[in-house]
Amino acid sequence: MSYPKKVRLVEVGPRDGLQNEQATISLGQRQQLIEMLCAAGSKHIEVGSFVSPKWVPQMAGTDALFASLNRQPGVTYSALTPNIIGLEAALAAGADEVAVFAAASESFSQKNINCSIDDSLNRFLPVIEKAKEAGIKIRGYVSCVLGCPYEGAISPQQVSRVASDLWDLGVEEVSLGDTIGVGTPLATAKLLETVSKQVPLAHLAVHFHDTYGMAIANIHQALSMGIATVDAAVAGLGGCPYAKGASGNVASEDVVYLLNGLGIDHGIDLEKLCTAGNFISQLLGRSSASKVAKARHCQ
Ligand code: HMG
Ligand code: MG
Repeated sequence: MSYPKKVRLVEVGPRDGLQNEQATISLGQRQQLIEMLCAAGSKHIEVGSFVSPKWVPQMAGTDALFASLNRQPGVTYSALTPNIIGLEAALAAGADEVAVFAAASESFSQKNINCSIDDSLNRFLPVIEKAKEAGIKIRGYVSCVLGCPYEGAISPQQVSRVASDLWDLGVEEVSLGDTIGVGTPLATAKLLETVSKQVPLAHLAVHFHDTYGMAIANIHQALSMGIATVDAAVAGLGGCPYAKGASGNVASEDVVYLLNGLGIDHGIDLEKLCTAGNFISQLLGRSSASKVAKARHCQ
């Protein structure tokens, strides 16, 4: 085992979390959540998405949200950009980093972004080139890395092909998404062994949804293999509108607790993070999905 000394947490709650919520969360409330996350020490926050509002109405207004942010130095404010329209909007809004998103499953690619995997990669090339010209970092997501809601099992080789295509196109980081939260530690290990032959481990991130309650175990597996970038959503918010039944992301609070236990540096104040999680959970009219937040609330 070789755990990293420091982990970079990518807070995806304001994007992955809120993209799937039926409750109306105002722009002011999205802004307040982001500012509370900053106050807790989050250094990378996915603010929202520049996608079609017809597809994901919850992410409408991401441009106005960027404009309203009281930006803190040293914090990366990023956004999803599925195509050149999205990238131009992200650049106009002043995003620090953008992300394209592909899938390891053909069916999911069609449902999520309305095109085949190959077409999506062709579509991403100008997005990646233009982001680089603009001098901002670009991440590439691969969804359905441990299973697909439409096709079932997905092999590590299928994932590896898409991850290495994204890497060859020039993304600086590949985030591997267990979109429907079906992975286990052994499957995670096999996946990382295979993909890291194509994309250097230092440029891989993991992104687990927690549908089957395995996300923390999977993250522990990934950390033990040297992964040092972990995506998580405060209060365990999240889901994908095109992956029915998939529950939220792993809760950021639970990941921080795990990292504390392993003595891995992360720079986040757990108490303040729980406050941010409780804030958004109250707005959504439910209790936090973070086990750690629940436990601390009871103390
Ligand atoms: P399409 O309908 O094929 O697009 O959608 P199109 O190019 O034919 O354009 C149709 C209309 O959309 C046009 O407007 C375009 O201008 C507009 P109209 O002429 O009809 O008025 N349009 C846009 N508007 C705003 N921003 C844009 C944009 N692009 C086109 N960027 C498209 C293709 C990709 C746009 C659509 O499928 C889409 O927006 N999909 C987004 C789906 C999404 O956000 N899913 C959730 C994020 S992925 C995820 O959650 C997984 C992840 O967390 C990792 C994991 O867990 O695995 C990342
Ligand atoms: Mg996700």
